[in-house]
Amino acid sequence: MHLFEPFECRDVTARNRVMVSPMCQYSCEEMDGLATDWHLVHLGSRATGGAGIVMTEATAVTPRGRISPQDLGIWSDEHAEALRPITEYIESQGATSAIQLAHAGRKASTYRPADGRGPRRDEAGWTPVGPTSEPWPADEPLETERLDIEGIERVIDAFVTAARRAVDVGFDILEIHAAHGYLLHEFLSPVTNTREDDYGGSFENRTRLLREIVREVREEIPEGTPLFVRISATDWLPDRKSWTVEDSARLAGDLEPLGADLIDVSAGGNHPDQQVPEPGPHYQVPYAERVAESGVPVGAVGKITTPEGAEEVVRNGRADLAIVGREHLRDPYFTLHAAKELGYEAPVPRQYTRGFD
Ligand SMILES: Cc1cc2nc3c(=O)[nH]c(=O)nc-3n(C[C@H](O)[C@H](O)[C@H](O)COP(=O)(O)O)c2cc1C
Repeated sequence: MHLFEPFECRDVTARNRVMVSPMCQYSCEEMDGLATDWHLVHLGSRATGGAGIVMTEATAVTPRGRISPQDLGIWSDEHAEALRPITEYIESQGATSAIQLAHAGRKASTYRPADGRGPRRDEAGWTPVGPTSEPWPADEPLETERLDIEGIERVIDAFVTAARRAVDVGFDILEIHAAHGYLLHEFLSPVTNTREDDYGGSFENRTRLLREIVREVREEIPEGTPLFVRISATDWLPDRKSWTVEDSARLAGDLEPLGADLIDVSAGGNHPDQQVPEPGPHYQVPYAERVAESGVPVGAVGKITTPEGAEEVVRNGRADLAIVGREHLRDPYFTLHAAKELGYEAPVPRQYTRGFD
């Protein structure tokens, strides 16, 4: 297996194994959640740049599931339609389009990073929801609402409806965001989930919400559409009862029979006390390798910044996809450069051939 070998999953074939990692752009008009020219040009230029799979940022399935008021959303048909030009353009470039469906849980209602982060209390803010009423431990945290059973059912419905809308406007691959301390991760981890009903307590109960979402989304979308799940492999809280890499491998094994096709393996984000290891090159790849022991295909992410590095991850079978985040902010043409440097045929758009002679 090598980086430029097509990635086949259900009815989809991506031209290579580079995926643009989901990255929030905080670029909607405040509060409206509709895709703008920024999203089209940003995602489109990574498709022109040769990536196999181009994934949107975390796209909120409900308004309260946004991180900031400028987040992208897919909670109505109008929101979905605003994304259609993006899927059409990505396809026109020979790339595969993917969308990350997300709910920010108790980490919602913040300022976007450019405006200073932290809880948003003005008229543009809202009350976040979580597995419990325990808020994200910020300075002066926002009051948080514990989801009751009806609230949980509404969240499941929101993911399922969003998934259908995403397929209808042309997304080839869907990803459920269950990482980084957002709602679904909050349910998975004993650090954030101290519920005493069917959705808290045991491993089985804490994973129930994600399992139900995966099962119901899979029933809603076409058989041929791949479904990815992004998880945080670990809470990075070794000194307390928390979510571990072993839990992640077990979860992956539970999700595959429900219809998950690939686990996108990230880490952390669930608590400010997390102890992040020195983030050297490929520092999260060993987590992907551990999760892959469950037999489920995986994507590796985290400081993969060079063509050789991406190739190493795939060629040595450490992951099925090399997922590249910040390097794609520096270089939209990462994949074209990688192909040239590694000696593969680059998917150069005809308009740009003179630049890659
Ligand atoms: C600006 C920015 C926005 C991000 N937004 C998201 C997001 O919407 N969803 C997500 O799962 N991860 C998000 N991440 C995490 C990245 O997808 C990626 O996992 C992380 O940056 C590590 O990969 P890298 O070292 O290649 O950047 C974001 C990261 C950055 C830098």
